[in-house]
Amino acid sequence: MMPSNNQTVLGENRLVVTCHLAQRLDEARAQAKRLGLALSIDPPPGSLVLGLDEHGWFLQQTGPDAPGPIRVDFVGGAMGHRRRMGVGRRQPLARAVGMKSDHRPRIWDLTAGLGRDAFVLALLGCRVTMMERSAIVGTLLADGLHRASTVAELAPVVQRLELYQADALEILQDTNSPAPEVIYLDPMYPERDKTALVKKEMRVLRAVVGDDDNAPALLAAALARASRRVVVKRPRRAPSIAGPRPSHSLPGKTTRFDVYLI
Ligand SMILES: C[S@@+](CC[C@H](N)C(=O)[O-])C[C@H]1O[C@@H](n2cnc3c(N)ncnc32)[C@H](O)[C@@H]1O
Repeated sequence: MMPSNNQTVLGENRLVVTCHLAQRLDEARAQAKRLGLALSIDPPPGSLVLGLDEHGWFLQQTGPDAPGPIRVDFVGGAMGHRRRMGVGRRQPLARAVGMKSDHRPRIWDLTAGLGRDAFVLALLGCRVTMMERSAIVGTLLADGLHRASTVAELAPVVQRLELYQADALEILQDTNSPAPEVIYLDPMYPERDKTALVKKEMRVLRAVVGDDDNAPALLAAALARASRRVVVKRPRRAPSIAGPRPSHSLPGKTTRFDVYLI
């Protein structure tokens, strides 16, 4: 995994690393040092904590009405449910990236986040290179991938996924690596979007990484590198990212995929 700067928008005094397990305290301390964050065994209410417990890493807002912990869980939870229900090749995401019965495109996901879209694509058989610039989100994602890799049924899926904890714009500038067929991006939705705001993951993610103000630059760089297409996930009614017009769009229930054919 490549090193990265920590993109949190919070001051270091508000985001702290915490761990109540004596046997994992050294691990938590080492990660806090790597991220440039303080380790606090008893963080004050209202803090955002990056915690380590017996299940792995989590992100949580502390305080009386705070939502539960956010983890990257590909085994159980919503993603496990989705997997057990069956992930189909006809869903808008799969169609948007150009998946065919006999063809699984090679994909770079520039905005990996909690890794759900990349995992769905990998479940469907695509090899996906994920890039995530926030070292905190990257910690959660690497942890989720590690846990999934220990489950026999999911190990081959995890093998199709590769994570770079780095700014995708920097990776795209390195023209020595072969261009992928498809580049995918899902920038953080604008603050006014209510659909995203009701999702606790998105609220907490936004508190950690802020708004993605680099979406037009990412799109331009992606269009310059992808060999076949660039796919952008947007809220269903949001405007397209500033730049060239998409070739076509595929609507989902709450989201839309703008497809730019090269
Ligand atoms: C909306 S989330 C992506 C959610 C993801 N599609 C999923 O399924 O979980 C956007 C993520 O992109 C990351 N991001 C934004 N700009 C980036 C860049 N230039 N390079 C790498 N990651 C970036 C943010 O840190 C954030 O975690």
